[in-house]
Amino acid sequence: MTTQMRDALDRPLRDLRISVTDRCNFRCTYCMPKEVFGRDFQFLPARLILSFEEIARLGRIFVGEGVEKIRLTGGEPLVRRDIEKLVAMLAGIEGLRDLTLTTNGSLLAKKAVALKAAGLSRVTVSLDSLDDAVFRAMNDVDFPVARVLAGIEAAREAGLTPIKINMVVKRGVNDGSIVDMARHFHGSGAILRFIEYMDVGTTNGWRLDDVVPAAEIVEKISAALPLEPADANYRGEVARRYRYTDGGGEIGIISSVTQPFCGACTRARLSSEGRLYTCLFGSAGHDFRALLRSDKSDEEIAAHVRSVWGRRTDRYSELRTRATARPRRRKVEMSHIGG
Ligand code: GTP
Ligand code: 5AD
Ligand code: SF4
Ligand code: SF4
Repeated sequence: MTTQMRDALDRPLRDLRISVTDRCNFRCTYCMPKEVFGRDFQFLPARLILSFEEIARLGRIFVGEGVEKIRLTGGEPLVRRDIEKLVAMLAGIEGLRDLTLTTNGSLLAKKAVALKAAGLSRVTVSLDSLDDAVFRAMNDVDFPVARVLAGIEAAREAGLTPIKINMVVKRGVNDGSIVDMARHFHGSGAILRFIEYMDVGTTNGWRLDDVVPAAEIVEKISAALPLEPADANYRGEVARRYRYTDGGGEIGIISSVTQPFCGACTRARLSSEGRLYTCLFGSAGHDFRALLRSDKSDEEIAAHVRSVWGRRTDRYSELRTRATARPRRRKVEMSHIGG
């Protein structure tokens, strides 16, 4: 097994994020604004989306090249029909250490037990506020907080733990919910992570002024519930960890804007149509669907993975300051590659 594969900046490939659909039942204003993702928006037709068999074959090939963790994303991964069947196929891959999924939680109450039975290790649930009015406005489909909380509870009961909660913080929108969220999940066993709002894609109208810096978030929480820094769980972890000094658990901060972490980035992303992106801020990706649908052998496809990864030089977040000053280039949308 080739576990030593390194990119041009000496970073190994460890995590594969697989988007299983470009669709979502939410229209979060920072991700799929309704003006762009409206009724007429053309999502990918089924024939252009990788089948479960194709995804599982690629999953096996990537694990053979050193991938230890697979995360399913979307859009919203649970809107893909029979997703638990894919989970079961991936869970059987020898050498895979962690199989997880990032979801908006809306369908978790229905799916948690089946996902656990299929072999999913844990889940990460996005939740941007406990204030019902703020949350409904952010998901923009009037979805209530209570149903996401019920989904989180179902995941806990099913044993999809440790559960992580992702809160994207946008200034003037939900920064008033930071301390409420911290208090709610303090002592619950769930790990709440605060995410700096990022300039992913080109449709969300991102401005630097919308970003609440990580340092400010930590300060706010610490004033109510004192925190101290904790060590990373693994090399390349994107969240910086902090623990409550009273033993109430930990939180994470993902500061891609103010403290980028490209130097340790071990992630590749596969879109639902089978394009491989070596950075969240990539533009075109590499077409693996064509390879899968040709007569290429697993070894030939693996060689292509090695060649793409070997040439990788991405470090967008570290270059962001300069990059945003340049004319805008095309960037893939968050809902297309799953964050
Ligand atoms: P763990 O496996 O639990 O460590 O999860 P994770 O933090 O890797 O994944 P998750 O899907 O929860 O991502 C959390 C946030 O970090 C999302 O907003 C992602 O878009 C962002 N994120 C994840 N990986 C990267 C990355 O490589 N670069 C950047 N810039 N952001 C990332
Ligand atoms: N900036 C930061 N995080 C984002 N997410 C979606 N869009 C953005 C953005 N522009 C988050 C989702 C989900 C995770 C995969 O990415 O809320 O939790
Ligand atoms: Fe859907 Fe997640 Fe994007 Fe919100 S952030 S629109 S839940 S994919
Ligand atoms: Fe990795 Fe690109 Fe994110 Fe940097 S910006 S951490 S290279 S995905």
